[in-house]
Amino acid sequence: MRRGTPFIAGNWKMFKGPSETASFCSELGRWLAGSEDVRVAVCPPSVSIAAAVSALGTSVEVFAQNVHWEDQGAFTGEVSAAMLLEAGAQGAIVGHSERRRYFGETDETVARRAAHALDAGLEVIACVGELEAERETGETEAVLRRQVEAIAAATGSHERLVIAYEPVWAIGTGRTATPVQAQEAHGLIRRLLDVPVLYGGSVKPENAAELLGQPDVGGALVGGASLDVDSFVAICAAAAR
Ligand code: PGA
Repeated sequence: MRRGTPFIAGNWKMFKGPSETASFCSELGRWLAGSEDVRVAVCPPSVSIAAAVSALGTSVEVFAQNVHWEDQGAFTGEVSAAMLLEAGAQGAIVGHSERRRYFGETDETVARRAAHALDAGLEVIACVGELEAERETGETEAVLRRQVEAIAAATGSHERLVIAYEPVWAIGTGRTATPVQAQEAHGLIRRLLDVPVLYGGSVKPENAAELLGQPDVGGALVGGASLDVDSFVAICAAAAR
């Protein structure tokens, strides 16, 4: 998954159980059948992965929202890469800012999750991004450097790895990074680790084309706007153009 084909992934967060997933994915599969100019994934809650896989066939990939670094063991509430592969998932998100903020995820655990998932054969979207206060105090570059270097040290520029740059102040807020801010961050990240970099943070049909037009923006990780088939398909279409 080198740069070239744009990659749009829908992070559903804690929305859509198995039956809603099945109907959403049947509709999405119909809309996206045969579209070769964009690579598309949905990231449902773990309990809905199997429903997504069976409704989608091969036109859209299915990613988990997190994955543990052991194959099995006494880790209540966690899911392993082997289990995800068995359920039909092709990849997993790691290090989303909500995991970092609410569930104690650190640069170290994110790196361990990413490295193990890649070793096991999954694709990985590893998330990084600065807080609003960090941007205001001029720390954006240092924060991104620290987060990306932790991942890079564990994985290198693995061919199944992508980074998602998600400024935390833009997630679910309706505020997006400007195309210039996004390009600046993506350029920095790609100098640290040569893998595709997705932008995330209030991506919508109205702003997708401009963000995706930046030279180092390789796709998007879409939260809220991925929960509705029409808006998600519109973002995929903007990426394909
Ligand atoms: P948002 O979420 O598109 O709703 O801002 C993005 C994300 O959290 O991945």
